[in-house]
Amino acid sequence: MDFPFLFTWSKQKDATHFNLKEVKDHQIILESGQRIFDLTSISFQASFGLKNQQIINPIIEQLRNVPMTSPKAIFPLKTDVTNKLLDLINLGGKIFYTVSGAESIENAIKIARQFTGRNLILARRKSYHGASLGALSITGDWRNQDHLTLSDYTVRIPEPDDDPDLEETRKIILKAGPDKIAAFCLETVSGANGVYIPAAKWWHGIQKLCNEFGIKLILDEVVCGFYRTGRAFGFLHFPVKPDFICMAKAISGGYVPFGALWVSDECARSYDDKILSCGLTNYAHPLGLAALSGVLALTSSMEFQNKLRNLIPHFSNQLNELRDLPEVTTIRHIGMLAAIELNKSLSFDSVFQQGAYALAKDKMLILCPALTYGIDELTTAMRVIRKVITA
Ligand SMILES: Cc1ncc(COP(=O)(O)O)c(C=O)c1O
Repeated sequence: MDFPFLFTWSKQKDATHFNLKEVKDHQIILESGQRIFDLTSISFQASFGLKNQQIINPIIEQLRNVPMTSPKAIFPLKTDVTNKLLDLINLGGKIFYTVSGAESIENAIKIARQFTGRNLILARRKSYHGASLGALSITGDWRNQDHLTLSDYTVRIPEPDDDPDLEETRKIILKAGPDKIAAFCLETVSGANGVYIPAAKWWHGIQKLCNEFGIKLILDEVVCGFYRTGRAFGFLHFPVKPDFICMAKAISGGYVPFGALWVSDECARSYDDKILSCGLTNYAHPLGLAALSGVLALTSSMEFQNKLRNLIPHFSNQLNELRDLPEVTTIRHIGMLAAIELNKSLSFDSVFQQGAYALAKDKMLILCPALTYGIDELTTAMRVIRKVITA
C-alpha cells in the first residue's frame, strides 16, 4: 500500500505500520479491535500512559486561555513551572526551553562550545542523541551513517566496560588536545542502544577528567529524565555534577512536543553581558509548559511516588522470572527501563502481532513501560513478553 507520508527510519516499502483506532491508558487499540500493551512508552515519551487526564487537562485549559505567546513573554505558568523544574534538578542554574530532544542536545553543544571557546565533543559509539545534524554527528549508532555529519568535531571514546578506569579515554583526550575539547555528551543510561548502565566508578572517572581538563559534562537525560530510572533523573544514581542536562520526551508525557536544557549557574551567568545566540519560534510554548506542570504535579504526588516504589520491584521480579528461559542470555535494567538479550532475533512486527508494543532490535528487546502501570496490568503485559520470547 502507498501512503502520502513518509515513515521514519525505514525502507518505505517495508515500513512497519498499524491501523490505530484509539488509545487507552497503556494500550493501543487497533481498528481490528486487537489491544496491544504499550511496553516502551511508545518511543520512551509516554511515561505516564497514553491518556493521562492529569496532564491532558492543564493542556486543554491552557489552550482555552493563552494558547500561544512570545518567547519574550513572562507569565505565572512560565515562572512557576520553571522554578519547580529547577527545584527538581536541585543544582541551581537556569532553563532553556526547546521542542525536542535533538534540539536540547543542539543547544547544549552550541552553548558548551560558546562558553568554553572549544569545538570538540567526546561521545560514545553506543549512543543516540537525535536526528538533527549536530545531534546526529555525536550519535554513534547506525543512524549517523549516510548523513555526512560534522564528524570532525566528534571524538569517540570507548564504551564504559572497555575502559573502566578511563585510561584509554584519557589518552584520547591528550591526543585530541584538552584545550580543544568543549564537552562530553553522554546518555546517563543508554536507551535504545541497549540500556547499558555505566558503573559509578566510570562516572567518577568522567567527572575527574572534566575537572582536570576543564571539559564540560552534557548529560542526555532525554530517556532517563522524569523518574524513568526510579529517581527524578538518571544522574542522581551516580557521582557526577553535570554542566548541562538535556530533557524531552517524558517532560510533557509526549502529549505536546517539548524539551528543555538545564544550564549550570556558571554558564548561565556568563550570558548576562554576552548574547545567547540560541532561540526558536516556539520557545517556552505555553502548551509545553502546561504539560510540564501536569507532569510535575503528578510525579510529586505521594500517590505516584508510592505506586512507583512498588512497581519497580514488581517489574524487576517479572524480569527475573524471564532470566531462566533458555532463550534469554542477559537482562540489564534500572528502574522501569530494561534490555533483554536473547539467543534469537525478534522483529517489531512479531512482538506486535502477539500483543505488545516493544522495541525489538536484532537479538534484543527493550522495555520501558509507563510508570503508571498497575501491578496486575503489568503482570498481564509481561506475560505477552514471555510468550513472545518462548514462541
Ligand atoms: C537518548 C536520546 N536523546 C535524544 C533523543 C532525540 O529526541 P527527539 O526525537 O525528541 O529529538 C532521543 C530520541 O529517541 C533519545 O533516545
